[in-house]
Amino acid sequence: MVENDECKGEAKEEAKAKVTPWEVRGVVDYDELVVRFGTTRLEGATKRRLVELAGEDHWMLRRDIFYSHRDLDTILDRQSKGKPWALYTGRGPSGHTHLGHVTPWMFNKWLQDRFRVPMFFQLTDDEKFVFNPELTLEKTHEYALENALDFLALGFDPKLTKVVIDTDLIRTMYPIALRAAKRITFSTARAVFGFTNENNIGQLFYTSMQSVPAFLPSALAGEEVPTLIPAAIDQDAHFRITRDVAPHLGYPKPALLHCKLLPSLLGGDKMSASDPESSIYTTDKPKVVRKKLMNAFTGGRVSVEEQRRLGANPDICPVFWYEHYLFETDDAKLADIERRCRSGELLCGEHKLALYAKVEKWLEHHQSERERIRAHLDDFMMKD
Ligand code: TYM
Repeated sequence: MVENDECKGEAKEEAKAKVTPWEVRGVVDYDELVVRFGTTRLEGATKRRLVELAGEDHWMLRRDIFYSHRDLDTILDRQSKGKPWALYTGRGPSGHTHLGHVTPWMFNKWLQDRFRVPMFFQLTDDEKFVFNPELTLEKTHEYALENALDFLALGFDPKLTKVVIDTDLIRTMYPIALRAAKRITFSTARAVFGFTNENNIGQLFYTSMQSVPAFLPSALAGEEVPTLIPAAIDQDAHFRITRDVAPHLGYPKPALLHCKLLPSLLGGDKMSASDPESSIYTTDKPKVVRKKLMNAFTGGRVSVEEQRRLGANPDICPVFWYEHYLFETDDAKLADIERRCRSGELLCGEHKLALYAKVEKWLEHHQSERERIRAHLDDFMMKD
């Protein structure tokens, strides 16, 4: 059975924010998560090496948006020696894609551009079916195809990118999932995910499906091809299990790169799929985007007069965080926005309109790309 080194001491401390693959609740302390999950901060020599090997920096590294990892050095070692490795990331198709999902995908795209490595993109229609009482398999499969368009619209290389839809690729995936499942006890799954008697058995099995693409490149090549999985830190629990079972199945442990979660437009933490007002979807029309941004929470004051006098607080402001995560990639310009915000020079209404212009420009391009890709989607699909 699994030694469970990475699954030990799973926290049940209610005072801390809840961060699981299915729910993020409370104020997330990202430093505390590094300790609680037993990951390593992305800093110092490892971070410098990543930038050096990539040949350029990325704003998500400079701003500590990607801030934590597991075993990144093993991937960087392989890169230095010219040995193969692959990227793996994914999406649980429970609805349309929002800008939170796009955050780690942009960084994945940059990694593929810089390192020219294969990318396996998993769409877990099975996961969203077993976890969401309202969703049918037909619906999750439909969303899987829609979400794939969003991923591919970011410009992943058609020659290097494969899309894996769980229920479509099941003949290839099932034997590997079974071998993983045989190594995962109920007690481990319960400790890691907090399962109770009310969880259905599809949910218990599911994590073994999320392990599969971590091993697929090795299984396909018949030699060690470790994967690097860049995702938000909410997905880490799955991969603690994947890393524990890997050696028992004869595969290398996947490495991980973790990012922070793009906050809700309404203030607070991870965007909530149950409240469409909390996030901007890639399929939103301009009028909807504008309304969501104009209604967003900010770090502003109650009156213009007070704001001019005392300034606003970007530390708690989703409008500022959208710039920081995604829409102002120039550090000097971001610093200027922050200065003008703190000094009271920039009012929240003006800032919202300026952000809207950037988001709308990005969305216009994205929406036309996702429609262009639609005709070629099948070429990206991995088939049994
Ligand atoms: P899902 O669909 O919840 O999320 C897809 C990806 O988006 C990240 N994410 C966010 N990143 C930044 N800010 C946010 N507000 C935010 N919300 C979600 C997630 O961490 C994820 O990277 N079970 C997975 C699907 C999956 C997967 C994978 C994800 C299968 N294999 C491998 C990552 C890596 C899921 O439901 O993701």
